[in-house]
Amino acid sequence: MLSRPMVESLNNQIQLESYSSNLYLQMSAWAEIKGLEGCATFLRAQAQDEMTHMHRLFKYVYETGALPVIGTIKAPPTKYKSVSEVFKQVYEHEKFITGKINELMNLAIAEQDHSTVNFLQWYVAEQHEEEHTMQKILDKIKNIGETGSGVFFIDRAIGALGGEK
Ligand code: FEO
Repeated sequence: MLSRPMVESLNNQIQLESYSSNLYLQMSAWAEIKGLEGCATFLRAQAQDEMTHMHRLFKYVYETGALPVIGTIKAPPTKYKSVSEVFKQVYEHEKFITGKINELMNLAIAEQDHSTVNFLQWYVAEQHEEEHTMQKILDKIKNIGETGSGVFFIDRAIGALGGEK
């Protein structure tokens, strides 16, 4: 049995994970249009991962007898200036999500809700991995550089990551 604040916070996270999925899917469309197939494939895989994160939360909430609520998902941006801008935004977004997971964890700990603390551990580890992956991608972009054929090699390097976490 979850407390009301816990249910509200988990539902908020359901909404955020749905937004994350839409954000990365929309970014993949930008990459496709720019002919950046490697980036598009990677971002689509990220979008699917985010949907999985949403479903885990959704299931956890209904399994406790509470009602999962998806709510209104805001529209993600559609325009980007460069590959580095896209991945900087992904990195910033993931840091924001990590903060939200930490808030959820703080609440679960404060309420001595051991089941939710245990459930959230997976997200803590996942956020660590995602931030690390995005940091690696930003390093690659910086090292290769976006001038001349750099974007081609960046796209190839990101495509090679596939759905890597
Ligand atoms: Fe589900 Fe990338 O946070």
